[in-house]
Amino acid sequence: MARITLRQLLDHAAEHSYGVPAFNINNMEQGLAILEAAKATDSPVIIQASRGARTYANDIMLAKMMEALELMYPQIPICIHQDHGNNVATCLSAIQSGFTSVMMDGSLKEDAKSPADYDYNVRITRQVSELAHMVGASVEGELGCLGSLETGHGEAEDGHGFEGKLDRSMLLTDPDEALRFVADTKVDALAVAIGTSHGAYKFTRKPTGDVLAMNVIEAIHKKLPNTHIVMHGSSSVPEEWQAVFNAHGGKMRETYGVPVEEIVRGIKMGVRKINIDTDLRLAGTAEFRRIAATSTSEFDPRKFLKPAMDAMAKVCRERFDAFGTAGQAGKIKVIPMSEMAKLYAKGVLDPKINVAKAA
Ligand code: G3H
Ligand code: 13P
Ligand code: ZN
Repeated sequence: MARITLRQLLDHAAEHSYGVPAFNINNMEQGLAILEAAKATDSPVIIQASRGARTYANDIMLAKMMEALELMYPQIPICIHQDHGNNVATCLSAIQSGFTSVMMDGSLKEDAKSPADYDYNVRITRQVSELAHMVGASVEGELGCLGSLETGHGEAEDGHGFEGKLDRSMLLTDPDEALRFVADTKVDALAVAIGTSHGAYKFTRKPTGDVLAMNVIEAIHKKLPNTHIVMHGSSSVPEEWQAVFNAHGGKMRETYGVPVEEIVRGIKMGVRKINIDTDLRLAGTAEFRRIAATSTSEFDPRKFLKPAMDAMAKVCRERFDAFGTAGQAGKIKVIPMSEMAKLYAKGVLDPKINVAKAA
């Protein structure tokens, strides 16, 4: 059994200067692909479910799948995380289902569309921290709204993101406000807005500093050197997979993601959790399309899904290698959530002291 909390995993990552990809999961194929890659590279892993994923797969199915993955890959520390929780109930029901970590995204209101003000964000995030920490679960908060600095828009593809246009100041996390926010909410990790957005259409050209504000990460890290920074919308949307997708009936217009080398630079400046959904969607679907288009008489779904799994696993392995996650799984001795709860209760995890040292 190796279910790990986000806090312990990111503390380990900070101590050993690496980052951990957080892959979104909706089904068995994604789960197997991610864990096969983790096993092949000896990487600890974060698998995260959005509210959409929980509706799609059902909480019972997801919970049993997580249990199965844990049994099949006992050597891999697995953090199970709620992605973009929109209210307290979403976060608590995730913990009830066995998640070890939750994101309370108070940058938006409960409708996951309207930008929220600072006071609302602090109030709801602090409430989730208080409750989650009582049972040892970790909490990620978000300050600033995810959206494109090129257009001022949030993402339109997924159900989560503001509608309309925001000005630059709302699309960039303010480092001084981040300092206050972490103190006010006691979150274990902080998601920041730096111009990334969800989905495939992030940038119309290879991003430079004006649209991918890595300088904001640097400034936040200076103010909060012990806080784990989370980069959302961090798929790289690889050209090679766009090409496979487009060559087999797909229609994806020219687009650019977050370059892996920028993420690697971020890891040197305190980025510890890197959210990736689109890349696995794209690689898996491109491969599925390729088989469908080239083996037109095939109707056994396994003949499509196995190559799709291999394609997703390849992307995962590449990210584990690039982020320095590879080789770290075997070094981690998991602290159970019940022990984490005691550490929070003693108050020794805030200020942000390394869990392994506090235990
Ligand atoms: O939050 C963004 C992730 O890509 C999840 O997307 O809500 O379509 O599952 P989803
Ligand atoms: P991508 O759409 O870039 O994969 O981002 C996923 C994400 O941030 C999930 O929270
Ligand atoms: Zn996100």
